[in-house]
Amino acid sequence: MNIFVTGCTGYIGSHTCVELLNAGYNVIGLDNFSNSKREVLDKIKQITNKKIKFYEGDMLDESILDKIMNENNIDVVVDFAAYKAVGDSVVKPISYYINNVSSVLTLIKVMQKHNVKKLIFSSSATVYGKQDIMPITEEMPIGNTTNPYGTSKLFVEHILNDLSIADPEFKIIVFRYFNPVGAHPSGLIGENPNGIPANLMPFIAKVATKELECLSVFGDDYDTLDGTGVRDYIHIVDLAKAHLNGINKLNNMNEGGLLVYNLGTGKGYSVLEMIKTFEKVNNVTINYKIAPRRSGDIDTCYADSSKASKELGWTASLNLEDMCKDAYNFVINNK
Ligand code: NAD
Ligand code: UFG
Repeated sequence: MNIFVTGCTGYIGSHTCVELLNAGYNVIGLDNFSNSKREVLDKIKQITNKKIKFYEGDMLDESILDKIMNENNIDVVVDFAAYKAVGDSVVKPISYYINNVSSVLTLIKVMQKHNVKKLIFSSSATVYGKQDIMPITEEMPIGNTTNPYGTSKLFVEHILNDLSIADPEFKIIVFRYFNPVGAHPSGLIGENPNGIPANLMPFIAKVATKELECLSVFGDDYDTLDGTGVRDYIHIVDLAKAHLNGINKLNNMNEGGLLVYNLGTGKGYSVLEMIKTFEKVNNVTINYKIAPRRSGDIDTCYADSSKASKELGWTASLNLEDMCKDAYNFVINNK
């Protein structure tokens, strides 16, 4: 079976390609390296002993999508290509809407032209905005996003919903990821943001290696057990494996439609719990200080992932210690 993966050298894309190749799928990949490095392709080969059929190009370019569909008998598309930096999206909203929304429109147009009608789309817990009740289920209302990145994901969800009504042959899965962290246990691929990381786990890892001096804990006066923000961290390998379950589901759907699944562990951990676990598992000290709240942050966010468990047969199996161990292993291997 031929799976077309957009954004295949990115953080989630690369780990998913590894799982797809290990499971025996043929992987056709596209990336423009706007947020990843070509060397990831070699790393994927090192891990799996198999190769992606890779195309360098931009998802906004209809002709390369056409070429890929012409040259490969694509069964399923898994779409990861997008910009994802929340702060950056506030400064450059239009480039986020073009890259994250127009690219999907182009993709759908080409898929329809080539009669490829199975799609997995990478959405985010950010579409839920601030919810008062935890855990978050898929039935809870979406909207009230707090930044253009989140709004771009929300728009695409609406577009896909409209598409599934207008073209009932389309089989679509929308995955709402919670907080993917960690790295492949080989230490060969992982999250390698350019510059100073905006997210917690890569920041902690760089404080551990002394590349960064001190972690700012954004707020200790939230309505949580220890006052710091609580999130549902999920190991990247667990998250990647969910895409195999998603593909099975698409292949077994009797009719078209759109299905939405949360991907998380169902457990929330605070920033201080993250720091403590990281220190214990890796035998390091994390230098941190309490800083003011970060604008747009919420107290608590964790998933009810029971729908994915019931309908896809998927549950996360790796714990917070695995996440911290593999995140550190990756940074010390890639300093
Ligand atoms: P990433 O930036 O590591 O990977 C995205 C990849 O897509 C990169 O390799 C980039 O070069 C490529 N890309 C971007 N625009 C492109 C374009 N126009 N044409 C071709 N390639 C393009 O991000 P990630 O963490 O792997 O995220 C993958 C998807 O999951 C994104 O859609 C993101 O919004 C979504 N997501 C991520 C998180 C997270 O915390 N990492 C959470 C929720 C949702
Ligand atoms: N935090 C710190 N210091 C830091 C970075 C983060 O204290 O230097 C705290 C935040 O305040 C928050 C928690 O750590 O309480 C997690 O923050 P992240 O930035 O790692 O993750 P977010 O939950 O804010 O957002 C991430 C992605 C979004 C995505 C969301 C849900 O950045 O794009 O998860 O998937 F939408």
